[in-house]
Amino acid sequence: MSVKIRVEGLYKKFDKREVIHDINFDVKEREVFVIVGGSGSGKSTVIKHIIGLLKPTSGKVLIDSTDITSLKDSELIEFRKKIGYLFQEGALFDSLKVWENVGFYYLENTKMPISEIKKLATEKLALVGLKDIEDLYPSQLSGGMRKRVALARAISYNPEIILYDEPTSGLDPVTSAMIDRLVLKLRDEIGVTSIVVTHDLESAFSIADRIMYIHKGRVIAVGTPEEIKNSPNPYVQQFINRLPEGPITQEFFEEIKTKGGR
Ligand SMILES: Nc1ncnc2c1ncn2[C@@H]1O[C@H](COP(=O)(O)OP(=O)(O)OP(=O)(O)O)[C@@H](O)[C@H]1O
Ligand SMILES: [Mg+2]
Repeated sequence: MSVKIRVEGLYKKFDKREVIHDINFDVKEREVFVIVGGSGSGKSTVIKHIIGLLKPTSGKVLIDSTDITSLKDSELIEFRKKIGYLFQEGALFDSLKVWENVGFYYLENTKMPISEIKKLATEKLALVGLKDIEDLYPSQLSGGMRKRVALARAISYNPEIILYDEPTSGLDPVTSAMIDRLVLKLRDEIGVTSIVVTHDLESAFSIADRIMYIHKGRVIAVGTPEEIKNSPNPYVQQFINRLPEGPITQEFFEEIKTKGGR
């Protein structure tokens, strides 16, 4: 399989604080690549670089061999049409109805008749298990429903690449399993290449072709679910086995001490 996405020597500083340190990875066409790591480890920051919402301090992001970090704004906007992005916060437009949110791409970029856009929105909403909510506003939905509307929007224009930031957080187990199945279905039926950021280890292990574990902006391990399970790295073991004690916890308390906290 050819390489679809390549991240090379990615560094990111916000002001003087370095949050991403020399991250390198490839995602192959049709791969489901899952990124896991603790809160604040840099997962969302990494995928924001892949859609060009953030510019690296140094490093490259190649998509189909084009370095998107060197594109002009207008070229980047065009390039983004290949990519669906589910924001961690959902980021729906509050003043637009559900169907307008889901059909936003078509309202903005095409002359498709409204009736067809509505129909398409209904179809995409069905894929994420929602119906009869087209004319509601985001504020009238539950948190899990908003998340799924955002997911319907991310997949609405059949992008080649989908970046999912915490697609199952806040969802019940059955709905989460349905979303997992949808990620695989999009891969199998349309050939989508996926990057999934998640805290949900059960989901990670069930959908991933490969998993990358990051800690404090650094890659600690990358491999198949089997390789990650068998990784000898103590950070990986603590994380995947949800152990309250281990190197991650020690670092946490060290930090509190050095910052003069409790
Ligand atoms: N725009 C920004 N300006 C300054 N610092 C930022 C910005 N975005 C992220 N950070 C910092 O970068 C670090 C990584 O943040 P990021 O959102 O990537 O973490 P994450 O792994 O996605 O965490 P979570 O699992 O909680 O979503 C954090 O310390 C955060 O405070
Ligand atoms: Mg995040």
